[in-house]
Amino acid sequence: MHHPAPRHPRLDPLADRYAARTHGMKASEIRALFSVVSRPEVVSLAGGMPAVTALPLDAVGSMIGELVSGMGAQTLQYGSGQGDPRLRERICDVMALEGITDASPSEVVVTVGSQQGLDLVTRVFCDPGDVILAEGPSYVGALGVFQAAEARVRHVPMDDDGLIPEALEQTLLECRAAGDRVKFLYTVPNYHNPAGVTLSEPRRQAVMEIADRYDLLVIEDNPYGLLGFDREPMRALRARDDRRVIYLGSFSKTFSPGLRVGWVLAPLAVREKLVLATEAQVLCPPSLTQYAVARYLDTQPWREQIKHFVELYRERRDATLESLEALMPAGTTWTRPDGGFYVWLKLPSGLDAKLMQPRAVNAHVAYVPGIGFYADGAGREYMRLSYCYPEPDQIREGVRRLARVIEAELDLHSTFDRVDTGTFRAVSGPQGPSGRGVEGIVGPANSDRYEDLG
Ligand SMILES: Cc1ncc(COP(=O)(O)O)c(C=O)c1O
Repeated sequence: MHHPAPRHPRLDPLADRYAARTHGMKASEIRALFSVVSRPEVVSLAGGMPAVTALPLDAVGSMIGELVSGMGAQTLQYGSGQGDPRLRERICDVMALEGITDASPSEVVVTVGSQQGLDLVTRVFCDPGDVILAEGPSYVGALGVFQAAEARVRHVPMDDDGLIPEALEQTLLECRAAGDRVKFLYTVPNYHNPAGVTLSEPRRQAVMEIADRYDLLVIEDNPYGLLGFDREPMRALRARDDRRVIYLGSFSKTFSPGLRVGWVLAPLAVREKLVLATEAQVLCPPSLTQYAVARYLDTQPWREQIKHFVELYRERRDATLESLEALMPAGTTWTRPDGGFYVWLKLPSGLDAKLMQPRAVNAHVAYVPGIGFYADGAGREYMRLSYCYPEPDQIREGVRRLARVIEAELDLHSTFDRVDTGTFRAVSGPQGPSGRGVEGIVGPANSDRYEDLG
């Protein structure tokens, strides 16, 4: 039976016993949207769910069935903490596609998605108060892990070519001056989540030179690297340095996120600690799903399947960019991804994606407000749009609705500017006697205004 969580901490009899690290834990901006985006009338540009129905489901189904009926003694049994050796070999073949040709299966630890890899790496390296450098914005799931470890995140700005090396160096100098212990740089170099941008080749060089000069450890998180639309995979940072880079990989975007299979590639001494940490956490990664991935790689045309995914995502990216170009009001800007799942959109000056969200939901379109992708409260003027899941027609409709919400918001903004020279948020809106300001959930009085947007 489902018991709703107590709304007030005093009603929770265990309220004073929780560990300090739980105090900052909160549902991510994405999870908070789950109930909304699953409503059929809502076009969701929010979740980053891969298009798994594009897989050969019957073939995958029979493959998994055979793994149980024919090999149940292994596939339904506990396995090694480091992960199945056959799968670790195949993982090395996959990484070779990104120029990592020297990896040995003994340096690979299989994880429950790269999310567990992130958690393990953070556990192994970070004490409370340690500083982690991360792109601004950053993957929300990584921020959650860092926060749970009570690490402090310092964001390093990025632009259309990814992380800015000069800003990285500047931040390192500032940390050094402040006496902060920087444990590592966390970076998503390819088709960044949420920014959609890719670290350029010269910048890869520059980032690794800085890492060398400042003795910086780099965590390269690369779930999207094989999902480029127009080119061969970029050479991984790990391909340039096998001591200074720990690489996180995943089958979530190239095969299936539901199987929860990812990995960490790390130097042997680190690998040793990662295996101890994973054994303490889960004993071993699930056997069945590891065998499923290994068998899939052995028997199915997985490279062709990735090409098929790429075609599908390219079409959806095109639908997104074309509709944004055609429909967005002046002053709105966005990134132009050449792979992966995401567009990072900046609203016209003065608008706030978090405040606008209830109006967007009323207009039956969902996105993720940018604020969730920063550890420091920045990002209010940004939002993440995911094009991986909806069909192109839905995407066009979603962008059309979103454009109208932004236009209405701009109208509202200029109206307020005319009646009051104070800041937008300080003004109490025309909602009438409810007294709810524009920050509140859209109430009956002002919801009429958006009714035609659906
Ligand atoms: C940058 C990044 N890292 C890690 C993950 C987690 O993926 P996995 O399903 O492998 O745990 C995601 C998922 O969206 C991601 O975007």
